[in-house]
Amino acid sequence: MNMLDTILARRSVRQYTAQPIPEEKLNAILYAGLAAASSKNRRPWEFVVVRDRAMLDKLSECRPGAANLLGKCSAAVVVCADAELADVWVEDCASAITQMHLMADALGVGSCWLQVRLRQAADGRSTADVVRQCLGIPAKYGMMAILTLGMPESHPAPRTVDELPMAKLHWERF
Ligand SMILES: Cc1cc2nc3c(=O)[nH]c(=O)nc-3n(C[C@H](O)[C@H](O)[C@H](O)COP(=O)(O)O)c2cc1C
Repeated sequence: MNMLDTILARRSVRQYTAQPIPEEKLNAILYAGLAAASSKNRRPWEFVVVRDRAMLDKLSECRPGAANLLGKCSAAVVVCADAELADVWVEDCASAITQMHLMADALGVGSCWLQVRLRQAADGRSTADVVRQCLGIPAKYGMMAILTLGMPESHPAPRTVDELPMAKLHWERF
């Protein structure tokens, strides 16, 4: 597959089998995150890899509905960043998550971005605080998202160039 085919094939996968993710694939996904571009090369992100079933279930309480994914996946990468180290930590985290999401798909591992920042738990606490508390993440770390991972039960169809929103492209002027 060339790079564009890989990018077009990437989809959010929300249904997983119970099969564990092979260690070398999980490592390659994490390396893709660590290799991401970051402003001034500050690399403010931290990745907390969670495979413990009980902790994944506990984390699923961080958001109503959407976080059910955590009860089904076999691993999750919690992405947070030292907000004192980089003013653009949000963008830095987005860059790392995107690379891990793409790498996972390219390796046949299903993944989905679960938003943490600006979201709330059912009890009114911020999703960020719930995740921070579960994992012992200090307050200075901005909480971005969780990438859920698992071997896919099914995979949505790849996109084709024809379905891309070409009207979003503006040439020379808006
Ligand atoms: C910033 C961002 C936040 C997202 N948050 C969630 C989420 O909380 N839960 C979820 O199931 N999917 C989430 N997604 C995945 C999107 O729903 C998904 O990318 C979109 O519907 C397009 O589908 P595709 O990824 O299969 O192309 C998020 C994606 C992004 C980029």
